Amino acid sequence: MNKLLISLLVSIGLTGVAHAAGDAAAGQAKTAVCAACHGADGNSVVGNFPKLAGQGEKYLLKQLNDIKGGARMVPEMTGLLNNLSDQDLADIAAYYASKKVQLGQAAADQVELGQRIWRAGVADKGVAACTACHGPAGKGIDSAAYPALSGQHAQYVESTLNKFAKGERDNDPAQMMRDIAGKLSEAEMKAVSQYVQGLH
Ligand code: HEC
Ligand code: HEC
Repeated sequence: MNKLLISLLVSIGLTGVAHAAGDAAAGQAKTAVCAACHGADGNSVVGNFPKLAGQGEKYLLKQLNDIKGGARMVPEMTGLLNNLSDQDLADIAAYYASKKVQLGQAAADQVELGQRIWRAGVADKGVAACTACHGPAGKGIDSAAYPALSGQHAQYVESTLNKFAKGERDNDPAQMMRDIAGKLSEAEMKAVSQYVQGLH
C-alpha cells in the first residue's frame, strides 16, 4: 500500500460522518450476554474470542454494524445484535473502548521475526509495516477506524490473518488487510501474531 493511499484513507476516516455519541455507563448494562465470550470488562480469557477492552470506539462500532448487517460473518453471534438500536451499539462501543486491555506475552522464539514484520513489513513482498496503520505500540488510529492490536490474543490474530488471506473476512475497506495477509506466509502470520499479544 503506498503512502498516498494511506493518507487518503486516513483523511476519509477523519472527515467521516459523525455518529451519535456512545455512553459507556449505559453500554455496560447492555453487555451481560457478551461477557460469556468476551469477558465482563472485554478481556476475554479464551484465545479465539477477541479482547474488546481498550479497542477503538469507532472501530468497534464499525464491526458491530458489519456483524449486525452481515458484512462480517460471526456465527457465534448470530441474532445477538438484532434487537440492538444504533444508540445501543454506540453505547456498547463506548463501554469497551473505556476499559483497559490486559496484555499477554509473546513466545520468545517468535519475537525477532514478529518485531521485524511489525516495524518494517516484508519489503521483498511489498508488505507495508503494520506500524503504518496500527501504530508503533499497536494502539491503532481510531479516527480512521484502524484497530488496536496491543495485547490481542495471538490465536485470534493468527486466525483473522488467515481469514483475510482466504477472503473469508472481507469487510476491510479497500481490501487493505486482504492484500497484506495474502502475501504473508504461515510462519510470518504466526510470528507477528505472537508479537502483538505482548506489544504495548
Ligand atoms: C458465543 C460467543 C460470543 C458471544 C456471546 C458474543 N461474541 Fe462477539 N465475537 C465472538 C467471536 C468468536 C468473534 C470473532 C469472530 C472471528 O473470528 O472473526 C467475535 C467478535 C466480536 C467483535 C469484533 C472484534 C474485533 O476485534 O474485530 C465485536 C465488536 C464483538 N464480538 C462484540 C460482541 C458484543 C457486543 C456481544 C454481545 C451483544 C458479543 N460480541 C457476544 C464470539 C461471541
Ligand atoms: C494500510 C493500513 C494497514 C496496514 C499497513 C496494516 N493494517 Fe491491519 N488493519 C487495517 C484496517 C483498516 C483494519 C480493520 C478492517 C475492518 O474495518 O474490518 C485492520 C485489521 C487488522 C486485524 C484485525 C483486527 C481485529 O480486531 O479483528 C489484524 C489482526 C491486522 N489488521 C493485522 C495487521 C498486521 C499484522 C499488519 C502488518 C503485517 C497490518 N495489519 C497492517 C489496516 C492496516
